[in-house]
Amino acid sequence: MSVLLVLALGCGRQPETQAPTVDETAAPPSTTPPAPTEAPPITSPAAADDLDPADGSVSFALTAAPAVWASGGQVVDGYAFNGQVPGPTLHATVGDTVTVTLTNGLTDPTTIHWHGLSVPWEMDGATWMIDPVAPGETFTYTFVATRAGTFWYHPHFDTERQVDLGLYGMFVVADPADPAVGTLELVLDSGVVDEVPAGGHGGAASGWTVNSAAQGGRAVVASGPARVRLVNTSNDGYAALLGPLRVLGTDQGLAAAISEVPLLVLSPGDRAELELLTTTTLTLTPFSVDGGAAWGDPVPLVTVEVPDSEPAAWPSPGGAPTSDPGFTDVTYTLQGSDDAWLINGELWPDVTIERVPSGESSVIEVRNLSAANHPFHLHGHAFEVLSVDGVPPPHRLIEDTYDVAIRQTVRLLLVADNPGEWMAHCHILPHAHQGMMTVLAVD
Ligand code: C2O
Ligand code: CU
Repeated sequence: MSVLLVLALGCGRQPETQAPTVDETAAPPSTTPPAPTEAPPITSPAAADDLDPADGSVSFALTAAPAVWASGGQVVDGYAFNGQVPGPTLHATVGDTVTVTLTNGLTDPTTIHWHGLSVPWEMDGATWMIDPVAPGETFTYTFVATRAGTFWYHPHFDTERQVDLGLYGMFVVADPADPAVGTLELVLDSGVVDEVPAGGHGGAASGWTVNSAAQGGRAVVASGPARVRLVNTSNDGYAALLGPLRVLGTDQGLAAAISEVPLLVLSPGDRAELELLTTTTLTLTPFSVDGGAAWGDPVPLVTVEVPDSEPAAWPSPGGAPTSDPGFTDVTYTLQGSDDAWLINGELWPDVTIERVPSGESSVIEVRNLSAANHPFHLHGHAFEVLSVDGVPPPHRLIEDTYDVAIRQTVRLLLVADNPGEWMAHCHILPHAHQGMMTVLAVD
């Protein structure tokens, strides 16, 4: 969230003066605000019902429609999937065939993009060659959930506006081999509080929401350890969480190795999985897209209450990074400034379509020549991070959204196995809207 919030009418303080006719001995009028009570604990978003209880498949129905909802206590005259923001979490098991029927109850066209899932090209929800779902129409998406992990879904039509208005939800693909532990799903967004564009270019650590509740709340996981799945759905805010944090997984499921990190930065579109072994306050530290660590005090995002516990036996896949083959198939240079953001000097939709062959390994080099970070996202595939400024990651790192910091060069290995003409773009949605999108064809 960064714009389009509507403040609740009448929430401002009323003048202290009273009309002379008021009887001060009368019972207070019913409009007197109730005494503040402790906010209820934050829970995972309600899950979508599986309409196909057979093994090996799941089926969901989502309706996108106008909705008035609360973002951290502020009223938003926006949109919602099935009337809730975040939208219902969709749960599948790896290998499941997934069917989702989208009904468009909006007055605008819309779609659903399955962020991070490798779906067939016609099911991807990107509208640059396929028509969106018209108002009043339905469309059935179907694909196989090939990889376990924490994914999310959102429209890919008028994306900046529709996501901002409330159309987003988490998509969890479970692996039955994982230990059964307490879980919590946290969908992060950043809004507007007192006109401060939170988390965005100013980099403030305030104005965030967790499952639409104001930051600073608490959540409870009854049994430890806790597996906490996080997604940053903010249009432009970076969620930088102070460690030490035990990171189990990133965009594409369990990481090769569990790592304790001093700082976890979730760019827009990013996901992570944490293991919490005790009650932990996830604390935001100011982080600016214009240069990383920013001025200001750390602020609690959410306190997760967890009984003291030992780590679970995670089947982390292991593995060293693939060594860089040394060639480059596609280079993307990122440039721009406030009102135009370019890839290879081009603005969407006037772009050159790069092509890579299906069934082979290709190397994509992303060079950020601009003075802002850009989370690079590719549709239809995951990629391996080979190196950042020439340095390989400590272990194999599989992502679909990778933040390329100012002046960084990141080399990515793509084993292209999903033919199509896939969008590749910055996931700061205002940047994408202002041109920072292109297409990578896999033939
Ligand atoms: Cu979540 Cu094209 O992106
Ligand atoms: Cu960007």
